[in-house]
Amino acid sequence: MDFLTLFAIYVAVVLTCILLVCKYSGQQQNPFDTLLSYVSKKLAPFTPQWLQKVSHWTLHRLFHQRNNSFICLHILLEGAVYAEFTYEVFGFCREMDTTVTSLSVPYVLLVIKTIFFYLCIKTDPGTVTKKKLSNQLHIYSYDRRLFHPGVSCPTCQLVKPARSKHCRVCNRCVQRFDHHCVWVNNCIGARNTRYFLLYLLSVCAMAGDIALLTGDMLLHAVLRSGLLRASYIDEHGQQQPAGPLFVVQHLFMTFPRIVFMLGFLIFIFFLLAGYALFHSYLALINQTSNEWYKSRGYFFQHCHPTAAADHLSSPIPDHSKRHYYSRGALRNLGEIFFPLRGIQKKSN
Ligand SMILES: *[C@@H]1O[C@H](CO)[C@@H](O)[C@H](O)[C@H]1NC(C)=O
Ligand SMILES: [Zn+2]
Ligand SMILES: [Zn+2]
Repeated sequence: MDFLTLFAIYVAVVLTCILLVCKYSGQQQNPFDTLLSYVSKKLAPFTPQWLQKVSHWTLHRLFHQRNNSFICLHILLEGAVYAEFTYEVFGFCREMDTTVTSLSVPYVLLVIKTIFFYLCIKTDPGTVTKKKLSNQLHIYSYDRRLFHPGVSCPTCQLVKPARSKHCRVCNRCVQRFDHHCVWVNNCIGARNTRYFLLYLLSVCAMAGDIALLTGDMLLHAVLRSGLLRASYIDEHGQQQPAGPLFVVQHLFMTFPRIVFMLGFLIFIFFLLAGYALFHSYLALINQTSNEWYKSRGYFFQHCHPTAAADHLSSPIPDHSKRHYYSRGALRNLGEIFFPLRGIQKKSN
């Protein structure tokens, strides 16, 4: 296989991954789970019992129990990128006359990101407890559409406040539940959605900034090498100008680690930017991803033309309108950055 085919396969695989993850991230019943259980079922007759047990146990430990493995993976990947940046790109950039100020931006972003990452991990997302329950019940009112009054959580044995959900991984009910994030090993709920948003945005900024600096460095390297004006003799003895693919190939050969890192950063950047945009949008319309998926299910179940007839007489508000909770983007954002407390509500 020649270089071009390999490169095309690489790009295609990366793009497919981006699309799949963007489409299904956060969904409870995602095709990855389905595919995984399908594959393991098909492979079951050919794999020894102990291997099945070990893989089942590993997957269970990784995704269905609280653990720090994704935090470690995150720190490892980040460490690898920053080591590569510091030991290779930094030096090259200095040679290319990039200012120290712009080269220090990634480190400042790293500090900012680490603070939000830490806060996201350490903040209690808003666990529903017996002691706080009477307060928590009054924060949001039941819409009688997605959340109904008087429903108890069978595991916690507590009445569920509106917008809360039981997290199966952490085994607790969480206020204004958004989702359980394995990367921070915590639920995202009323009290840490703000940190989660800022964390996402700062990781995007970090990846984007390092990618820009690296891209700039590679561009300078290409310009300096004069490759764009170079030409080669093809098999017919004709002189051909070296095209962009030739340049890409040359970069791969000369700076393999840097080009690989750049590819990784671009991948991460687009992935997280999509995710951050989705979460910012949800924040602006006063919805959690839990409600987003729930109301989609509701929409398809109840607003399908055939099902609609049964609901004509019911007193449910207009549920074809997806964001009827919203009281304006600014107020919605305000509620994320200054989460409501039950006591506040009582006083007004
Ligand atoms: C957000 O939605 C909830 C209902 O889910 C509502 O009680 C609350 O007042 C809304 N907040 C804003 C700022 O619109
Ligand atoms: Zn519960
Ligand atoms: Zn959780």
